[in-house]
Amino acid sequence: MMIETVKLTKSFKGKNVVDEINFYIDEGESVGLLGPNGAGKSTTISVISSLIKPSAGDVKLYGKSIIKNPAAIRKILGIVPQEIALYEELSAYENLKFFGEIYKVKRSVLEERIQEILDMVGLRERQKELVKTFSGGMKRRVNIGAALLHRPKIIILDEPTVGIDPQSRNHILETVQKLNKENGTTILYTSHYMEEVEQLCKRVYIMDHGKIVASGSKTELLNILSSEDTIKIHLNETSDDILKKIQQIESVRHVDETDDGIRIISKKGNNILSSLIHTVESQGAEITNYQIETPSLEDVFLHLTGRTLRD
Ligand SMILES: Nc1ncnc2c1ncn2[C@@H]1O[C@H](COP(=O)(O)OP(=O)(O)O)[C@@H](O)[C@H]1O
Ligand SMILES: [Mg+2]
Repeated sequence: MMIETVKLTKSFKGKNVVDEINFYIDEGESVGLLGPNGAGKSTTISVISSLIKPSAGDVKLYGKSIIKNPAAIRKILGIVPQEIALYEELSAYENLKFFGEIYKVKRSVLEERIQEILDMVGLRERQKELVKTFSGGMKRRVNIGAALLHRPKIIILDEPTVGIDPQSRNHILETVQKLNKENGTTILYTSHYMEEVEQLCKRVYIMDHGKIVASGSKTELLNILSSEDTIKIHLNETSDDILKKIQQIESVRHVDETDDGIRIISKKGNNILSSLIHTVESQGAEITNYQIETPSLEDVFLHLTGRTLRD
């Protein structure tokens, strides 16, 4: 095991925002930490990176506690924080050079390494431009580059794609995938976008209210739902009353309205369709479209917490 947390706890003002969490990351793995805003992801990452001290519990690197020896992890870790930290008045190149010096990258290799990283994040052509002229996505890519200068064995990214343009987003996802697959870099990827975590990570921890509520491969997590069906219906007209009535159907566990129709989670095996038709028609409405969904990690989260990731 490369990194392991043991009953890791962090409290602020008496409240455990990270609450006795146990997890591990093996060398070369790509692990996702998925959870809604406020789940405790950034706090967990800050403790693992030894930026803040835990209130209780331990973080181990190759079996040794890092709480008293933070230098061990700092040497092998690249962290891309949620907040972008760059010098706006400097160019992309100058920013990377500055961070390279902070990370004590040898002068003799720094230049080559900067160019290699600019290639990797797709900014070689624009390296001389000031960061203040960059889009949020380009800044984020410089930020990722800065975390790679000392060739870390493990890289932690904290919601790196929030609020950026699709082109940069794809570039970031590709870069992370490449780092893991081609360079063997260990990845801990934090997000509240389940599609990204599904795409990038072999193993996922789902976090909510400071606790790990489930973990495993995508298949293992989806198996949690093997006793349920997710159904989407469209109605010719909808109302709160109809939603309430659907909720009252015996086998129904959850109902909510999405951008794409009404989502219903029900126990598998019950003949839900006839009950739905009956319920909707008794309210004077009609089902215009009906489909059974393939479950996603979003549905797993909903099943476990009763909330959606974006609540
Ligand atoms: N320095 C702090 N002081 C007090 N509360 C904090 C501090 N940092 C985080 N929190 C609280 O801890 C909870 C978890 O926050 P955070 O780890 O940032 O979650 P996430 O990254 O999953 O959105 C939130 O309720 C947040 O307000
Ligand atoms: Mg966060």
